[in-house]
Amino acid sequence: MQSSPKPEGWSSRLGVILAVAGSAVGLGNFLRFPGLAAQYGSGAFMIAYFISLVLIGIPICWAEWTMGRYAGQYGFRSSPGIFSVLIKHPMGKYLGALGVIIPVCIYMYYVYIEAWCAGYAWYFLIGKINFTTPDQVSDFFQKFVGSTQDGLVVQRGSNQVVLFLVIVFALNFVIIYRGLSKGIEFFCKWAMPALIFLAIIILLRVLTLGTPDPAKPDQNVLSGLGFMWNPGQVGKELLNPQLWLAAAGQIFFSLSVGFGVIITYASYLTRKDDIVLSGLTASSANEFCEVALGGLITVPAAFMFLGAAGVAGQGTFGLGFNVLPLVFAKMPFPGFFGTVFFTLLFLAAITSSLSMLQPGIAFLEEALGVGRKVSVTLLGALTALGCLFVVNFSKDLKALDTIDFWVGTFLIFVLATILIITFGWIMGVDKGFEEAHQGAHIRIPNAFRFIIKWVSPAFLLIIFALWVLFNVFGWNIDTGQFQPTGYVADLIGQPGKEPNQVARLSLALIGIVVVFTVVLISAASTRWKKKLTGIKAN
Ligand code: ALA
Repeated sequence: MQSSPKPEGWSSRLGVILAVAGSAVGLGNFLRFPGLAAQYGSGAFMIAYFISLVLIGIPICWAEWTMGRYAGQYGFRSSPGIFSVLIKHPMGKYLGALGVIIPVCIYMYYVYIEAWCAGYAWYFLIGKINFTTPDQVSDFFQKFVGSTQDGLVVQRGSNQVVLFLVIVFALNFVIIYRGLSKGIEFFCKWAMPALIFLAIIILLRVLTLGTPDPAKPDQNVLSGLGFMWNPGQVGKELLNPQLWLAAAGQIFFSLSVGFGVIITYASYLTRKDDIVLSGLTASSANEFCEVALGGLITVPAAFMFLGAAGVAGQGTFGLGFNVLPLVFAKMPFPGFFGTVFFTLLFLAAITSSLSMLQPGIAFLEEALGVGRKVSVTLLGALTALGCLFVVNFSKDLKALDTIDFWVGTFLIFVLATILIITFGWIMGVDKGFEEAHQGAHIRIPNAFRFIIKWVSPAFLLIIFALWVLFNVFGWNIDTGQFQPTGYVADLIGQPGKEPNQVARLSLALIGIVVVFTVVLISAASTRWKKKLTGIKAN
């Protein structure tokens, strides 16, 4: 007689913590965080950042762990399935759709950036990246990622980024195919210590640079750290709503909270497993990597070699891909340090991108009642098409940037708000805390009952309203006028400016993923209803 396959699950507590930490520690820690901190004046940014961590980051993280594990006991692993357990109304499960749409859409562009990191690591290793002028380095970057022209990198043989992309894409799916414990957990168990080891090598190098150019004594290690960490005009800066939006958005992106990832990962745990301490440990590991490693490497190193002017105005990618290669070129052994840094970025990225696939896999298996082979093939085909779209519309990285804004910021805010309201008001704080404390090794301080019920939703709703006012309606605080700019103007146009077709197509792509997810949820609803009736009868 054939025995039924063992149900999916984590094999150890350390494994699940490393998998969640792996999901959290990513490009956000080493590129996005330093860029934002430098842009907003780090002292003020760090105050808003830590307040957001305590008031929304950690509470939503605990809420996701608790709700995921709770619904997992009833055999639901996907975010829509989990919401069908949490919210009795038949429409409840559709709220969970975002927990699939967000990671799937983010994967489509995240894996492309992951391929850049792999490519840079390789080119540093073979000595192909050894540039000394900003023009050389930005020229290489633009050609490599295809940001000068649409369709550049998909023309056959014109660019090797496609080769790296195919390898990296395939690697993600091979690991995910191996399953939760043999794939994700196994990979994160060695990748996480390895990336911390690599980060420490780079950090030690940066902290021992002294005064790299004796002709510029002001650009030394202490002034580099001061540039990143001195508080500046904290009082005035803290009144800037954009600073709060940026800090809260970074907390979500960095902790992988509001992504639909943690809720899925937690659904594979049992009531005997601790989630309170594990959630806190994974978040602390992320904060260590972000603040202590990410915050001490990129900006101080760039400042020491290139001064404030070299750092100013550099966005997320500018710092990593345009500034740091120049910094490494000025150090002894540039190939070694460049390879170490971009390998570290690659490992950080892949442990995150893997976590973006699991919610889609769990959803397809649950909605279609199929096995791993079919779910992996289907998700592979869907994300490959989306990725091809991003890679093809590469001019100014428009498709990537548009999806990142609407999904990686806007939808994450929406899902985070849904999650905390579901936990605090629908499941209820008392039941939620009782559930969270099953198997817990520490207790959540009682103050968090009040924070979760009142403060987190209010904080989120205020930030979200401001965010929509500024970014969607284009409110100008000085003139009081509404003139959509940026991403909204891209879609609807502006006086004297036509709408951007790539931005519109990118939104259509997101729309296709939304429709696909909603149709599958509705197709699965009869089967899920039966499963739920069984639960209620028990
Ligand atoms: N949390 C992941 C990152 O920081 C997505 O990159």
